[in-house]
Amino acid sequence: MNFKKMIYTLVISGLIFNCSSNSNDDLAPNPDPDPDPNAKITYDANVKNIISSNCLQCHGNPTASSAPFSLTTFTDVKNRVDAILSRINNTSSPMPPSGQMPSTNRSMIQQWKDDGLLEN
Ligand code: HEC
Repeated sequence: MNFKKMIYTLVISGLIFNCSSNSNDDLAPNPDPDPDPNAKITYDANVKNIISSNCLQCHGNPTASSAPFSLTTFTDVKNRVDAILSRINNTSSPMPPSGQMPSTNRSMIQQWKDDGLLEN
């Protein structure tokens, strides 16, 4: 083997080894951003946080600022879902009284009802 051929062989084998990989990383599918688009809305996963951030400062236990009832438990919220939906979507007298929540929050609670008022 002459010198030129030897260099050529080294370069080629270098390329081959550099480009080969035993890992399957490149072939793994991207993580699914929404693993289960058909999942149902539940109180624990979706509704509880909306109520605690927007309602419990008044509808807590004990209640405050003259709120007429507490919304601290799953049962409290479930039993009053119709009154809740009507007031969170009421433009002239909304709950919370400071103004309507974003529509994503409001439709989440509607969807929770449509999905059957699941706890978890
Ligand atoms: C700043 C205090 C305050 C916050 C925050 C608040 N409420 Fe109220 N809520 C009241 C008061 C006071 C009343 C009674 C007077 C009235 O009906 O407007 C009331 C009444 C209600 C009623 C009774 C309606 C009826 O006619 O029986 C519902 C349902 C309700 N709130 C739901 C909610 C929900 C759901 C949230 C959060 C998204 C919320 N409230 C946030 C103070 C609050």
